[in-house]
Amino acid sequence: MAETLHRLRSWLGVLLVAMVLPAASVSVASADQPDGEVGTQIVGGTRASTSTYPWVVYLATSSGFQYCGGTLVAPNKVVTAAHCTEGDSPSAVRVVAGRDDKNSTAGTVAKVTKIWIHPSYQDVTIGNDVSVLTLDRNLSQRTIPFATSADSALYAAGTSSRILGWGTTSSGGSASRYLLTATVPLTSNSTCKTAYGTDFNATHMVCAGYSQGGTDTCQGDSGGPLVAGGKLIGITSWGEGCADAGYPGVYSRVSTYATAIQQQINS
Ligand code: ARG
Repeated sequence: MAETLHRLRSWLGVLLVAMVLPAASVSVASADQPDGEVGTQIVGGTRASTSTYPWVVYLATSSGFQYCGGTLVAPNKVVTAAHCTEGDSPSAVRVVAGRDDKNSTAGTVAKVTKIWIHPSYQDVTIGNDVSVLTLDRNLSQRTIPFATSADSALYAAGTSSRILGWGTTSSGGSASRYLLTATVPLTSNSTCKTAYGTDFNATHMVCAGYSQGGTDTCQGDSGGPLVAGGKLIGITSWGEGCADAGYPGVYSRVSTYATAIQQQINS
């Protein structure tokens, strides 16, 4: 039951978007649509190892069900999406580090002692889809620095960025057993505005994807990293369908939240 709730929650972003978009595009997000994607991983990605990307982690229920991603930014702090942790009690969340294959027991499972959710978070299309978890231990995995206000250059349109996650390999499809990765170019703010209108807020969000689609994060990747220039620049948040032409993935713009994240690290 908890797993169903988590699954519903992690898909909520997509459903919300589908609700506010015109009827013609609502069908794009429906779970029964034929899967037109060619790629078989993230959407359009390849397998990756946590030895290469040690700071990528996943969130699981106490029974081990993976439902979101996250990023280790300090030995005991994980950045994820607010829509991944909203309504959760810390005791219900596990952070799994160093495990490429969800069916293995590799790596470390940490418990969560505190969940911080951005105080202005309401829903993904308003923004502030940011959460920081405090772990019950310091993990040995290497952390990654996150973008600050000094890093605006990392957000230039066309910048190649890396997405990572254990989420579904097509919209409405099944989750990946293995960690997957792909690179996608950041879009300009105007491109993202064209796609999403007033749901896109350039202060809170940044978009990434090819104009022709084909490569994207998808359900279950939320909370996970968007990385450029060796820094965490985005948090997987929402999108219309997955990997559809004209609809890039939307990520929380980490630089906007750097001060708040740093405060949580210091706390
Ligand atoms: N909301 C999804 C999740 O919770 C992430 C969706 C990302 N969608 C996209 N088209 N990039 O896992």
